[in-house]
Amino acid sequence: MDKPGRQQVDVFVILGATGDLARHMLLPSLYFLDAEGLLPEGMKVIGAARTAMSRPAFLKEVREQVEARAKPAKVHEAAWERFAKRVHYVQADVAKAEGAKALKDEIGEARLPAFYLALSPSLFEPVCKALKAADVATPMSRVVLEKPVGHDLESSRKVNAAVAHAFSEDRVFRIDHYLGKETVQNLIALRFANTLFEPLWNNLAVDHVQITVAETVGVGDRWPYYDDYGALRDMLQNHMLQLLCLVAMEPPADLDPDSVRNEKVKVLKSLRPFTRRMAEEWSIRGQYASGVVEGEAVASYESERGQPSETETFVALRAEIDNWRWAGVPFFLRTGKRLPERRTQIVIQFKGVPHSIFDGAGREDLIANRLVIDLQPDEDIELLLMNKAPGLNQSGMRLQSLPLSLSLAKSYADKDARRRIAYEPLMLEIINGVTTLFVRRDEVEQAWEWIDGVADAWAAASMKPKPYSAGTWGPAGAFALIERFGRAWYE
Ligand code: BG6
Repeated sequence: MDKPGRQQVDVFVILGATGDLARHMLLPSLYFLDAEGLLPEGMKVIGAARTAMSRPAFLKEVREQVEARAKPAKVHEAAWERFAKRVHYVQADVAKAEGAKALKDEIGEARLPAFYLALSPSLFEPVCKALKAADVATPMSRVVLEKPVGHDLESSRKVNAAVAHAFSEDRVFRIDHYLGKETVQNLIALRFANTLFEPLWNNLAVDHVQITVAETVGVGDRWPYYDDYGALRDMLQNHMLQLLCLVAMEPPADLDPDSVRNEKVKVLKSLRPFTRRMAEEWSIRGQYASGVVEGEAVASYESERGQPSETETFVALRAEIDNWRWAGVPFFLRTGKRLPERRTQIVIQFKGVPHSIFDGAGREDLIANRLVIDLQPDEDIELLLMNKAPGLNQSGMRLQSLPLSLSLAKSYADKDARRRIAYEPLMLEIINGVTTLFVRRDEVEQAWEWIDGVADAWAAASMKPKPYSAGTWGPAGAFALIERFGRAWYE
């Protein structure tokens, strides 16, 4: 058997090619990779969907999306011509035998196809079966799954088992698009390419950690999916637990897929299971009511949904990692829609100095160091350090907290540059067969196990979402939650 990491894909098949994900993210990502000379010579791109559409019509749609994504720059015509030659479209319902057969004819003699399932998760199982039955999925081929992989541990196991029937685990690429974000990967560099932080990265020096993923967008017309999932399953189960793992994991031996993923699984296994009492004291669910976000009046979740709902659009909770490194260090996580600003941020709050030599005003000024990692919309890393405030002062030395800033945005500033799509590095890894940035089966199942525990504890405590006005930082209980433990959200 070939080593999956050594061979490049020769046909990239996108199933669900007319859907939003494929049009807005996947096809433009492939174009940009091609424009940078990163796609293998001769690699074909096949879009497949149930819609009847000619190849020129499909290409026209792809071109429009590429143009939108290229801004402020223009599409490079020679690069577009080269890319367009690769792109084909096939009308096929690949959950059915005849659809899989039509796809097989289009794939032809290719040896190493990748199938990107940009489809509703309910189709993962029938599609994998049909691909295998029609001999389209060969022992060489790779498969890419979008989140959510399941709705809970049981359904996730079922999906994973169906996929495993057609594709061996080393050929399964479970996407968490946060792992494609530049600054998320930079977390690995920050921790393991510097000597400075690692000796302090533990319960001796860290007081607590905060992870915030705040969005201004609402659920809108995604409610048929969202109402069934809520913030816990939509954001916490995947993106936020991935961030938590990268912050908390032990140094892996190297960057090999399994070295990194083994360490992440250990963190997930160490998460303290939620009990009913923890649910009541350590967590809060919220749902947005109408309000004003970024100066615009917006509707409540319930009016978007068209009827009352008990789905949370906000969650804040305290997690504990029961291992040697993190014992006693709370991890406060919060995520929500219709919050006042878009912000993804990790805050490592260090402990204060063991003894203050400053007295008077200086003693009051003294605050503990803090590392603030901004992932979105700005990419910045700031270490807040204490300094002497300049000037003379008869009542003792005054201190001031100032940031030592990496200013990633400024360091790598190129005003004409477009923002890279998080899918670009992930697509490249799929083509090259490297699974480090993808989620392994045991990892996704372990995450579900913990999330199921939280959902069960909420149910046992009959915890309903508390309303919060759109444009605020969630229900008041989110502040009370962290204050109960003597801390405050970093604003
Ligand atoms: C998706 C969620 O996975 O991530 C969405 O389903 C959410 O609800 C989105 O809006 C956030 O991604 P990003 O890259 O905009 O932070």
